[in-house]
Amino acid sequence: MTTCDKKSILEEKINLSALGGGEARIQKQHDQGKYTARERIEKLLDPGSFMEFDKFVTHRCHEFGMNDKKFLGDGVITGIGKINGEQVAVFSQDFTCWGGALGAAFAKKICKVMDFALNNRIPVIGINDSGGARIQEGVDSLAGYAEIFYRNVKCSGVIPQISLIMGPCAGGAVYSPAITDFIFMVDQTSYMFVTGPEVIKTVTHEEVTKEDLGGAKAHNEKSGVAHFMCKDEDDCFERTRELLSFLPNSNFTKVERKNTSDRIDRKNTKLDALVPSNSKKPYDMKELILEIVDNSHFLEVQPMYAKNILCGFSTLGGDSVGIIANQPNFLAGVLDIESSMKAARFIRFCDSFEIPIITLVDVPGFLPGTVQEYGGIIKHGSKLLYAFSEATVPMITLITRKAYGGAYDVMASKHIRSDINLAYPNAEIAVMGAEGAVKIIFRNELKGLSGQDFENKKNELIKDYEEKFNNPYKAAELGYLDEIIFPEDTRKKLIQYLRSLSNKKVHRPKRKHGNIQL
Ligand code: HXC
Repeated sequence: MTTCDKKSILEEKINLSALGGGEARIQKQHDQGKYTARERIEKLLDPGSFMEFDKFVTHRCHEFGMNDKKFLGDGVITGIGKINGEQVAVFSQDFTCWGGALGAAFAKKICKVMDFALNNRIPVIGINDSGGARIQEGVDSLAGYAEIFYRNVKCSGVIPQISLIMGPCAGGAVYSPAITDFIFMVDQTSYMFVTGPEVIKTVTHEEVTKEDLGGAKAHNEKSGVAHFMCKDEDDCFERTRELLSFLPNSNFTKVERKNTSDRIDRKNTKLDALVPSNSKKPYDMKELILEIVDNSHFLEVQPMYAKNILCGFSTLGGDSVGIIANQPNFLAGVLDIESSMKAARFIRFCDSFEIPIITLVDVPGFLPGTVQEYGGIIKHGSKLLYAFSEATVPMITLITRKAYGGAYDVMASKHIRSDINLAYPNAEIAVMGAEGAVKIIFRNELKGLSGQDFENKKNELIKDYEEKFNNPYKAAELGYLDEIIFPEDTRKKLIQYLRSLSNKKVHRPKRKHGNIQL
């Protein structure tokens, strides 16, 4: 055989592999508004950067006529490439081959690329579009899933893991994305569930559509399983690239400071008017964030879930930061089960990957009620406390207005080792609001009074309490606040303090791992 013949064999094989499940199935995929697995990789990565592994892998299953049915690559495309000039590993399930169903060889390819990512400390992105375990391969495909799950756990906190859901993701298959750090879902074309509508109907007689049960909206708004809802696949790739721009490649490397055209000492004159001094008036904390960060660029994580807390990535003076902020515009920014869990997981991500944490506090306390207590607010609220307390990244806290009760302690107070604690002059730091406090501590004084006398006395006591406690000066006297700042200086101060913390090192006692309240 001549060299020319050998080359043409290779070309033929490459072309065959590129065709996946064939023209007809590719057309079907396009008709559904979906790109093919290969097109997705091309669109996600920097142009021309993809290097494919295992193009010619095939399965070794002999059951159910599988001997005669082989696709080069076995239904998943794997390899490495670049995003924003940085190396990443990627796998993309090919629905045109057995509906993207996972068998032993398919799983092995994913494991190989995950091992490569871990050994070389680069992020791994999985594009999911699959009918689940390849039924013909039986327990071999279950074993394949478990090998992937195991690697997901091993990689957790070492390299960023991102899942893009672009079609079905059902049954036990959901647990790989679930363990990864961020899940993107595409509206109307993706869904995730442990058991589908048919099984639900048989077991519980409940009727629900696929979309209502496990569509992008359901998981972004109701369950909190997903972190980003994208309007289409192109939007999903763009936002994945945006997210990665804030992250390091692994826990071994820090994100490099980026150039920013936004001046470090830019005054935030808008903030005086934005934060009302009347503590009962809501305002939009997101506006405050957009005002202080570089060029108003804030990537919000889980924007549709637990809206009483904001979490997201941004840069300050070019340095990546994770921002956690109570949102007075929604449920007055109260802490509850969902917001505690949302923020706790976000904090742990930032801490794993050495991303400094900025906490903006305006919190009236924890949400009272039986729903919260029976739902386990004690356990879930403590996750937030645990996450802040265990974090060793640089932490800066700014109290913009209210910081009451246990929520004051939990929201990255000095006492749980935030490095720098700041407050605006109108901050209120107390065990509880003035009215509630007066009714408890002056119950006896107020008991004998009625009508106007009662109102006068109560108002006098409230005023007295407010003067004593509803300000930041007591905390500043005790050194619990490092500085009380003018709102217009927020950006400058945050950047100055952030830079002063860039060499922070904290040593913890040796242990296998802590026992967070899961
Ligand atoms: C083998 C599969 C398959 C599977 C789909 N196909 N799922 N082959 N194993 N799990 C094949 C189909 O036979 C078909 O082959 C092709 O993929 C496309 O499937 P269609 O049904 O034509 O596509 P569509 O109508 O879009 O429906 C997609 C689907 C449906 C909703 C995913 O195929 C489906 O319900 N599949 C079964 C899903 C399932 O029950 N999986 C096991 C879940 S349990 P041809 O040759 O006709 O193109 C599980 C456990 C994981 O995954 C446990 C991990 C711990």
